[in-house]
Amino acid sequence: MNDRIIIIGSGIAALAAADILCKTKNVIIFTKSQVSDGNSVLAQGGIAAAIDKQDSWQEHFEDSLTAACMHADSATLELLVKNGPACIKRLIAKGMSFDKDASGQPDLAREGAHGKRRILHSGGDATGRKLMELFINELKDSPNITFHENELAIELIVGDEGRCCGVYTRNDADRLIAHEADAVILATGGTGSLYSCTSNHPNCTGDGIAMAYRAGAEIADMEFIQFHPTILHHDGESLGLVSEAVRGEGAILKNELGEAFMENVHPLRDLAPRDVVARALHMQYQNGHKVMLDISPVRHFSKRFPTITEMCSNNGVDVEQSSIPVMPGAHFLMGGIRVNPYGETSLPGLFAIGECACTGVHGANRLASNSLLEGLVFGSLTAGRLLDHKHFEATVQSNLPNRKEPYNDPKLPEIEEIQQNMMHYAGLVRDESGLKKLIAWLTQHDFLSLDLRRCSREAAEKINMLTTAWLIATSALERTESRGSHFRADFPVSSIDWQGKRIIHEISEKVS
Ligand code: SIN
Repeated sequence: MNDRIIIIGSGIAALAAADILCKTKNVIIFTKSQVSDGNSVLAQGGIAAAIDKQDSWQEHFEDSLTAACMHADSATLELLVKNGPACIKRLIAKGMSFDKDASGQPDLAREGAHGKRRILHSGGDATGRKLMELFINELKDSPNITFHENELAIELIVGDEGRCCGVYTRNDADRLIAHEADAVILATGGTGSLYSCTSNHPNCTGDGIAMAYRAGAEIADMEFIQFHPTILHHDGESLGLVSEAVRGEGAILKNELGEAFMENVHPLRDLAPRDVVARALHMQYQNGHKVMLDISPVRHFSKRFPTITEMCSNNGVDVEQSSIPVMPGAHFLMGGIRVNPYGETSLPGLFAIGECACTGVHGANRLASNSLLEGLVFGSLTAGRLLDHKHFEATVQSNLPNRKEPYNDPKLPEIEEIQQNMMHYAGLVRDESGLKKLIAWLTQHDFLSLDLRRCSREAAEKINMLTTAWLIATSALERTESRGSHFRADFPVSSIDWQGKRIIHEISEKVS
């Protein structure tokens, strides 16, 4: 077995792919911190799949399409939701245990914009953690998988014939290393940590997207950043996600006057699509209000939501008082590295799965709990495609550096400055003047002219953040309409001229 597949990232999409690939290939997984760090472990709500007799993939499809605001790739979305029930069956056969109701059937939850209860969950609100534990336990002793923790991928290696054939990393001893591979799969997650208020793990800095862009792959739909309405917020800090499933069980958003403001915003009230609820909260804050989640209607809150209860208690919020302070924060990137359903990017040899990939299934606004499903389904389909992959004689030259040299770090802004500027100018509500200011600020750092192989890990991560921020800001400026998660105050309605159009970036364009 000569074939070597490199996977960068270790969330659920990466592990689902590794689980299949390791049967016949050598798999090397690089992760910049620990395998269990990242967004997958933090996923609370669950996995959406039409498993109930009263439900159908067609209804799941319709709900996803409606939430996506006429911007989803419907053929790929159909593939996703049709695969949902079989994916759940495979997980159960693997040993995953989902919470059950009193009659022993899966206890299906409801979340925003779903017409039916169809979210499977585990450990109450610990679905991501349980799922990751299942995969990590199974894969950690596989002889064909090598985990490299604390090793940051720096740059993709593209051979003379324009094929991705490896990656440079910087390991925990600070050495720059070139690794060859038959194929590289990016599974580096999203971009939430470009924003000062987020539900995301600090690792989510858009590294894979920036690397793919520099290597020449197409990047699409970067203007579509989903803000989750309910991030626990206390003493000026954002502290973690309060699942939409809490509203699915009856909790109500109220301002400090006790007004249930969603009643006047959307017929689905608190369970309206996420973009609608997040903007309504934003308006409340703009008008000087504070927003609380009234959890008094939720029965047995602490039992059903133990993770949220613990997070609140660790941060001085007593759920017995029935009121959780919340505000919207960056949650999910619908765009990313453009791929087909088999993870193939526009760069031969390079694949992308999970949140860093843009399959088009989420359109302009992802339906709740479709993301673990996406990681599992497209992670598996991509691995299946790679099983047929012919062994490729890598063309990496043998004189590639494997060295420890002094850094040559450029002067770069602090991470907090990037996050505040993104929140302010490329957050829930954008306009031309703010986006132009942001783009001017970003481009002065000349991030595309820098050689990341000569930079420290800290600088490399910041350069990735600046690059990804620029991709978001320029896409948001170009899309002169509002659609789903992308809201332009100066173009507040959707335009038929933009319908079905994707903004695609390629490195050949000029950064200005
Ligand atoms: C949540 O539990 O509210 C988040 C689930 C998701 O983003 O799909």
